[in-house]
Amino acid sequence: MPNRGRKQRKNKKAPGESVKILISGPRIQRRIQALARQIRRDFPDEPLHLVSVLKGGVFFLTDLARSISGEVSFDFIAVSSYGHDTHSSGQVRLTRDLDSSIEGKTVIVVEDILDTGMTLQYLLKLFQQRKPKHLRVAVLLDKPDRRVAPVRADYVGFSIPNEFVVGYGLDYSERYRNLPYVGVLSLDSKLAKKAAEK
Ligand code: IMP
Ligand code: MG
Repeated sequence: MPNRGRKQRKNKKAPGESVKILISGPRIQRRIQALARQIRRDFPDEPLHLVSVLKGGVFFLTDLARSISGEVSFDFIAVSSYGHDTHSSGQVRLTRDLDSSIEGKTVIVVEDILDTGMTLQYLLKLFQQRKPKHLRVAVLLDKPDRRVAPVRADYVGFSIPNEFVVGYGLDYSERYRNLPYVGVLSLDSKLAKKAAEK
């Protein structure tokens, strides 16, 4: 059913903005099932503690958590790095810490996207100091061309080209997170600017 529902799903876009589907919802779901099996194979007998980064990683976390068999718990952390632009400031700040200790736990950091790597570098350093038993990283999307910090993910959903994407948790100025697919955002800068001036 490739095209059915696509029309209905088309969100009303802001003036000067359009989104082209890159990875469909069903493809995302199939890949998450495979990642969940892979994670459980790597840690067959361990309770797993998923730590997701708000807000972008939330849908990935909830779908992944429900697909991993056995004991799973989760927690959330929030950092700010991007502001309201499509360009990273490179600065990472902790805005909400975890509720519980991760000491001695098998922790999987669940992130929406690995871009420059600055966010993950910051988080991995922070978490390592708290002495987890294992510390692994799962990202839905990886943009390897954009990497600045020397970090890598253990589990990657999809490697994507260097384009600004939205949907499935990823936002542009807090919008588009609710799209069930991942799409490339295009901005007609003149139109968008006009709309912002109104
Ligand atoms: P990094 O620190 O540059 O790796 O960026 C990580 C964060 O930047 C992600 O968790 C996202 O919130 C945001 N980000 C990076 N690339 C994109 C994108 O293409 N669309 C939306 N947000 C992005
Ligand atoms: Mg994020």
